[in-house]
Amino acid sequence: DQRHLTPPDIRARKGGTPLVTLTAYTTPMARLVDAHCDIVLVGDSVGMVLHGLPSTLGVTMEMMILHGQAVARGLSRALMVVDMPFASYEEGAAQAFRNAARLIAETGAAAVKLEGGAHMAETVAFLTARGIPVMGHVGLTPQAVNQLGGYRVQGRGADAERIRHDAVAVAEAGAFAVVLEKVPDALAREITQGLDVPTIGIGASADCDGQVLVVDDMLGMFTEFRPKFVRRYAELGGEADRAIAAYAEDVRARRFPAPEHVFGEEPGK
Ligand code: KIV
Ligand code: NA
Repeated sequence: DQRHLTPPDIRARKGGTPLVTLTAYTTPMARLVDAHCDIVLVGDSVGMVLHGLPSTLGVTMEMMILHGQAVARGLSRALMVVDMPFASYEEGAAQAFRNAARLIAETGAAAVKLEGGAHMAETVAFLTARGIPVMGHVGLTPQAVNQLGGYRVQGRGADAERIRHDAVAVAEAGAFAVVLEKVPDALAREITQGLDVPTIGIGASADCDGQVLVVDDMLGMFTEFRPKFVRRYAELGGEADRAIAAYAEDVRARRFPAPEHVFGEEPGK
């Protein structure tokens, strides 16, 4: 759909005004973020944020498709990207293509995102050569939490070269943008300067070509834990708690419903 920003539009924004990205998982949130964002990501963070899963490892293709369809109904301008869930692409390029094609065809997203660096370059090249734009994701890759042993900063000290190599590998394989998650500020800046596609930072650097946050984190809706890289722009969780407590008190005191909320015998009353 030509009204939407496209992967080539995003790629052309390298070095320009920072690319604004947020996640969304539902139609009403998609409408809110579409008005202000360049990219809307249907992240596999949906598993933890909306489904109460302990990690993103339990997220399925079916969940991504259902949330992707909901988000698509709320977007009119932003580029929509859908995360490939754990175990939907790691077996090989053919498996990745089959599942990426389903995400694109069944949700209307224009691109997919998948986690991994050098070892995923072949898969990124396979998809992009066959018409599926790919956003890369290197540094902390939450689907590898068990292998990494936690959600730690990646690429400190001698480990920097590994992350640099990963970012270059997916960019050279054809990714139109690369998410850098939880890597040191200076490394993220250096990678950004070295790549000819935009970097989108999360816990990375203000010098990345764009930023992404989980929308429920920045709205204060998801409060199970708060990573250092989140800035809370609202406290909607606390606001919702106050509203629900007030409703509960009103019901118990028979203050709700009030006369204006109930119906009389006469039509129109
Ligand atoms: O799943 C997600 O929300 C993400 C972003 C935080 C980059 O992958
Ligand atoms: Na993700």
